[in-house]
Amino acid sequence: MQEVIVGRVEGATVPKLTIEVQACIEKELWPFYRQFGGKPYQPDILQKAAAEIEELCRILEGEGVTVCRPDVVDFSKDYKTPDFEVPSGMYAAMPRDILMVVGNEIIETPMAWRSRFFEYTAYRSLLKEYFKRGAKWTTPPKPQMGEQLYDNSFFKEEYNGKYITTEFEPCFDAADFMRAGKDLFVQRSHVYILVEAHEIVTNMFGIQWMKRHLGDKYNIHVLSFDDKRPMHIDATFTMIGPGLIIANPDKPCHQLSMFEKAGWKIVEVPRSVVSDQPPWWMSSKWLSMNVLMLDPKRVLVSSIEIPTQKMFEKLGIECIKVDMSYANALGGGFHCYTTDVRRRGTLESYF
Ligand code: ARG
Repeated sequence: MQEVIVGRVEGATVPKLTIEVQACIEKELWPFYRQFGGKPYQPDILQKAAAEIEELCRILEGEGVTVCRPDVVDFSKDYKTPDFEVPSGMYAAMPRDILMVVGNEIIETPMAWRSRFFEYTAYRSLLKEYFKRGAKWTTPPKPQMGEQLYDNSFFKEEYNGKYITTEFEPCFDAADFMRAGKDLFVQRSHVYILVEAHEIVTNMFGIQWMKRHLGDKYNIHVLSFDDKRPMHIDATFTMIGPGLIIANPDKPCHQLSMFEKAGWKIVEVPRSVVSDQPPWWMSSKWLSMNVLMLDPKRVLVSSIEIPTQKMFEKLGIECIKVDMSYANALGGGFHCYTTDVRRRGTLESYF
């Protein structure tokens, strides 16, 4: 890896508990969102998280990677468009969710949460700079995010097999995709039970948009998992290197045979060993597998996740141990907090 964008927690605001956030967040956490939605995250947690992210940047630079950062934006402002209004934004902590790099193109994805609508503003200085340096800069149609994008009957039935987002317009988060050379893998996820139903941030319309946009040069494969709260693929099925994936044992992939046929190796990850503090406000503890590969032989992994480190060492991959726990409270690990902009290598077919 030669260049990476690392997100920021500065200015991070708790999103309001709107229908699409309810669909994604465990019910036990709703009181937290009711109390703090629209307000900044607790300053002490943010400060400690910011210090961890600064250290992450230093480590990446020490490994010879150029680090770029988004602008500091105050996400606590409310906003209103002709189609919706929300009391605040969220953050620019997870560039992985919004920015997708495919060859020399950088795509600002049309995410499905209303609180994330203006997140792109934090990245615009960087994107203009990349454009000046020769990148192709793409913004797919911005979703209008009116009532029609969300299925309000979603919460009414006990079992409905429904998605919270409709097919009204394309929407997708970059983090629902992963790429291996000419092949991209994406999840359009599924909902099982009402109380545990979760947000679907990528719809089929969005996947179709990407298929047509990328054209014949790339293949897009749709994946699905046993997952009651599918949002972002990188704590479920993580690409480690050519033909190597680490898989979450609690969320088996329904298309495993497709990878096995192509000769790929799928390794189950050990369980996380983290505690309940600092709090897990936005994700599961499976962020232990949300690792960042510097190259096929070096990985950034949490310093306390010894079982995960052992798994990598057995695979012949060197672990660069980095402290991250407060930053996890905002819902992401090393992979979420970064978007790799430039890697060495040529476009290959591995599938
Ligand atoms: N939904 C995942 C979980 O709760 C977390 C994925 C976070 N990924 C991201 N790119 N923000 O385990």
